[in-house]
Amino acid sequence: LRILFVTSEAYPLIKTGGLADVSGSLPAAIRDLGIDIRILLPGYPAVLEKLQEKHLITQIHGLPEVGSVNLLGGKMPDTGVDVMVVEHAQLFERPGGPYNDGQGIDWGDNALRFGILSKVGSILGGLHSPLQDDWIPDVVHCNDWQSGLTPAFLHHSASPHARSIISIHNLAFQGNFAPEWVQRLGLPNHSYQMHGLEYYGQMSFLKAGIYYADSITTVSPTYAREIQTEQYGFGMQGLLAARSHEIHGILNGIEIQEWNPATDPYLAKTYNLEHLADKKIVKKALQVQLGLETAPHKPLLGVVSRLTHQKGLDIFLEVAESLLAKHCQIVVLGSGEAHMENGFKDLARRYPRQVSVTIGYKEPLSHQIMAGADMFIMPSRFEPCGLNQMYGLRYGTPPVVTRTGGLADSVQDSNSTTMKNNTATGFVLESAEPRQLLHTVQRALVYYHDPRAWRRIQRNGMRRDLSWTSSAKLYLDLYQSLAQRR
Ligand code: ADP
Ligand code: GLC
Repeated sequence: LRILFVTSEAYPLIKTGGLADVSGSLPAAIRDLGIDIRILLPGYPAVLEKLQEKHLITQIHGLPEVGSVNLLGGKMPDTGVDVMVVEHAQLFERPGGPYNDGQGIDWGDNALRFGILSKVGSILGGLHSPLQDDWIPDVVHCNDWQSGLTPAFLHHSASPHARSIISIHNLAFQGNFAPEWVQRLGLPNHSYQMHGLEYYGQMSFLKAGIYYADSITTVSPTYAREIQTEQYGFGMQGLLAARSHEIHGILNGIEIQEWNPATDPYLAKTYNLEHLADKKIVKKALQVQLGLETAPHKPLLGVVSRLTHQKGLDIFLEVAESLLAKHCQIVVLGSGEAHMENGFKDLARRYPRQVSVTIGYKEPLSHQIMAGADMFIMPSRFEPCGLNQMYGLRYGTPPVVTRTGGLADSVQDSNSTTMKNNTATGFVLESAEPRQLLHTVQRALVYYHDPRAWRRIQRNGMRRDLSWTSSAKLYLDLYQSLAQRR
């Protein structure tokens, strides 16, 4: 079985969010099941710099607008998974982020950049391999809108080709562009219709993936159901409901070596289930580092997140002062919408000893907050899976989450029943609203002030198997059933 995994980011080469974590860890878990899997990535500067054993494989010709690109080969740092990289200076080698200039303005040629990524994915998935070793995948596994056109290219190619999967990590990002791109990217004109890649007067990369892929996955069972409803479907609920029998909700796992409080090199002191007392040392170090009052008993509420509407942190901001009045401290690391950045910065200015806000993207600090905080706050309005709540569980930092998507599937609310049967792992609010968030944190504080109960909740979470083991097998089953359909 051969799998080509097409993605626009993969940790540790390049990361803007959870997709990178998944693309870094899922292929390794699949490889560990004995499967020949290769990742296909765009050649951003960071990727070219960090790729191990980098070498030129071949040139791929006949591409729309750009003519040809280099295909590089190499290996992922850490896991050694095989990687192929689309190298084209004009498309991918520029400062800024993978999708925008770093100031939040999307690159104007994203349709071309990811159209080419998608096209190369489809060429590698075709019968005539451009690779010297004649490697032809059975399944091309695409991720989000950036590789959403691959299934469309495959569908419209004349010769036999691999089966395809589109994984939806976030339906809110659709890659919708002007209709002229249909022709410019070399797709047939007739594909631009409702039964195809047309979406409200635009051509949609994600819709193309959902329409043409042989199979659709999302990153949690609950999100798989939610996206078929108007509330969460972002306009695609009709198409998704029509393909309902092909949708699989598979909960993400996490990279349990990278995210391990017992070995984490970023922590002032490592700790584990048996030595939870050492977590307090990490908390104190964090308070000192961030200039907070070093109060061991004040509940420290942590946030590491994109500051966007999805994540509901405006709701947290609304109740923050009520929580400070209950002697909580707040630590925030994130970046995103200006009004939220400013709101948090203002809060930190007014309460410098109780609130710390870091605007930016910092891998080490994200680990330190995950370990040093007492609770992890994640009141998302929707959440396809969410990884941070799982990192919170693993670090003995019970998450406070909304009952939606992967949050609903990974966190068990603490109440008398779940405390009794040792399944309580965090705190769940029914919907993302300020009063509910306030009420739920208050409920959590009651447990927090009962150290024995709190330790049980922490340990229940730390004992959960959050690794890829079981989910990777579900992907493997899906790959196998698709390969049989060839
Ligand atoms: P999403 O992908 O929707 O942003 P996830 O919870 O799936 O949400 O994944 C977010 C990932 O990005 C996690 O690994 C988290 O630690 C990381 N992250 C988010 N914001 C920051 C930040 N400001 N600094 C460091 N890491 C961050
Ligand atoms: C997206 C989603 C997030 C999910 C991640 C990885 O970024 O917003 O919920 O965890 O993809 O699948």
